[in-house]
Amino acid sequence: MKIAFANPGDINTGAIVVTATDGRKLTSSASALDKKTNGAITRAMKASRFKGNSQQSLTILAPSGTKLDRILLIGLGKAKEYDVTSAQNTGGQIYAALATVGSSSVSICIDAIDGCALKPSDIAAELAYGAKLRSYRFDKYRTTEKADAKPSLKTLKVLSANSAKARTAYGRCEKIADGVFMTRDLVSEPANVLYPESFAKRIKELTKLGVKVEVLTEAQMKKLGMGALLGVGQGSIRESRMVVMQWNGGNKKDQPIAFVGKGVTFDTGGISIKPSGGMEDMKWDMGGSGVVVGLMKTLAGRKAKTNAVGVVGLVENMPGSNAQRPGDIVTSMSGQTIEVLNTDAEGRLVLADALHYTNDRFKPKFMVNLATLTGAIIIALGSEHAGLFSNNDNLAERLTESGLDVNEKLWRFPLHENYDKSINCDIADMKNISGGRGAGSITAAQFLQRFVGKTPWAHLDIAGVTWSGKATPTVPKGGTAFGVRLLDNFVAKHYEK
Ligand code: BES
Ligand code: MN
Ligand code: ZN
Repeated sequence: MKIAFANPGDINTGAIVVTATDGRKLTSSASALDKKTNGAITRAMKASRFKGNSQQSLTILAPSGTKLDRILLIGLGKAKEYDVTSAQNTGGQIYAALATVGSSSVSICIDAIDGCALKPSDIAAELAYGAKLRSYRFDKYRTTEKADAKPSLKTLKVLSANSAKARTAYGRCEKIADGVFMTRDLVSEPANVLYPESFAKRIKELTKLGVKVEVLTEAQMKKLGMGALLGVGQGSIRESRMVVMQWNGGNKKDQPIAFVGKGVTFDTGGISIKPSGGMEDMKWDMGGSGVVVGLMKTLAGRKAKTNAVGVVGLVENMPGSNAQRPGDIVTSMSGQTIEVLNTDAEGRLVLADALHYTNDRFKPKFMVNLATLTGAIIIALGSEHAGLFSNNDNLAERLTESGLDVNEKLWRFPLHENYDKSINCDIADMKNISGGRGAGSITAAQFLQRFVGKTPWAHLDIAGVTWSGKATPTVPKGGTAFGVRLLDNFVAKHYEK
């Protein structure tokens, strides 16, 4: 979909979108159009329950007095509550309402709104961004889909005062959307197509944007002593990989910031095999690494003034004659040994080596890791919040606030030495499960904490938010890319020179 910005003008063809605030208060373009159509909008409002509340809409087809195909009247709610997120939601709502109705182009009229803090050009940019985010579609394998089921909408034209300003503001949003779309693509891809080697190849594409990309093979990881990660991948015919991305947009001497992702391209559970129902979901067990890659794409795309490192551990967790057995003891790169009591608690094993490697090599300011780590986080939080665990209050607060700005919400859980004790082990330094039934997400986080030293660190357990069964205004069904927008905002607010 093409998105264009223009100053207000007369629209006589195609579909047009105008707005009203609560109490059926038409904005200026809406009332001008109402006059032109001999009161069609006013009559339609009276004949319906449309009150101008946020998320409400009303369609008027082929209004007399014009050559327009349709008018879509959108409710904005209370003017003084209308903010950036509302504008993005309006954009997503407009896209969803018009994408498949038959119109190929739509013009959206944005006016100054009495009592609203946002300027028309701000609203225009954010609304376009929301529409763009909602327009994502993973349809590369739908070869027989009929043309009339596909979106007809090709051009979205946003009309506002100062449209040049809107266009510039949107330029930055578009770079974030590029990262979000790459993450959604990666997460949606099935595991026969996306496996460690092919995933690494896709990451290599970031080189074009100026990201330095290194791919570690199994032989190289073996040399480094990454026994925890390699043990997970050893049952698969697909070789494991670790990919290191560097974006150096900051001062040469500045310590980098680091993002680390779990990239289990398929999690069968291994010998501790999962039940078959729903196992297909485990193609998105690489969601954390997908976010790290999308974030690096965004940072490079918008030339962020920061030094950022992204590290992803890519493995496939399969049963097989060479698979890791329950009871195996592995030695991680940190030197700490782990008794693998359950081969399905594999994400923490992958991250143990990825976190240690990142810390050891880059000495980062902090590390944030993302992982679809535990089913227990879904029991606790559902799909509204992701779980946050951190050894540093300042980092935790910054992440939480950055998430609220972009409607990617985090909820912090505790860490405590008494939970840590539950993974102590009689015959190795630790075991990979606690054995008890409680606090599964916390003990997983305690495990990770043993591999970060004293570096400020935060772990985001995104198992509940990586994939969505229902659309929200700016996120269609499927891979959400939760975390890309949050972390981009977090970097922009706190870590750019
Ligand atoms: N990838 C899963 C966690 C998961 C479950 C993500 C459901 C998304 C949806 C992880 O590797 C796993 O299997 N965790 C186990 C840990 C247990 C064996 C201690 C779990 O949560 O059941
Ligand atoms: Mn697992
Ligand atoms: Zn997993």
